[in-house]
Amino acid sequence: MAVQRTLCIVKPDAVEKNVVGEILRRVETDGLEILALKMTRLTDQQAQGFYAVHRERPFFKDLVAFMTSGPIALAVLEGDDAIARWRNLMGPTNSSEAPAGTIRGDLGTDIERNAVHGSDAPETAAVEIPYFFNATEITAPVEALAG
Ligand code: CMP
Repeated sequence: MAVQRTLCIVKPDAVEKNVVGEILRRVETDGLEILALKMTRLTDQQAQGFYAVHRERPFFKDLVAFMTSGPIALAVLEGDDAIARWRNLMGPTNSSEAPAGTIRGDLGTDIERNAVHGSDAPETAAVEIPYFFNATEITAPVEALAG
């Protein structure tokens, strides 16, 4: 199984609920490694750029308004099959349909206020991670340092 990296965003609704620690605990319990971690608040321009693929969608304006409404936490996660594992932990996009036991089911509200974001493919992660993190902000995994 391939070692992958994925971007994790804890969205403004989850930061406001004080569940950043709970979400990171689930990440760590699953065995995913947190290679980088920071809090920030997106500008309009940053949020529009990040969600550019959705710019023609009817929900784009609301999505940008929500994502800039408060602080977010950003993390880079690494592990075997990390993209699918993080997506399984998150659950389906719409929190109102996400099962209990998933982050979106337990901690989100609806399709917009859905607590977390994750990259959907390696190609997406390769764009999303450097959108927020410089190479120097990402901890090299222990194995890479050992050699
Ligand atoms: P996310 O994984 O961050 O990627 C795009 C986001 O757009 C998604 O989570 C949802 O929060 C949001 N989204 C997708 N579809 C809709 C919709 N129909 N209405 C409102 N927001 C949506």
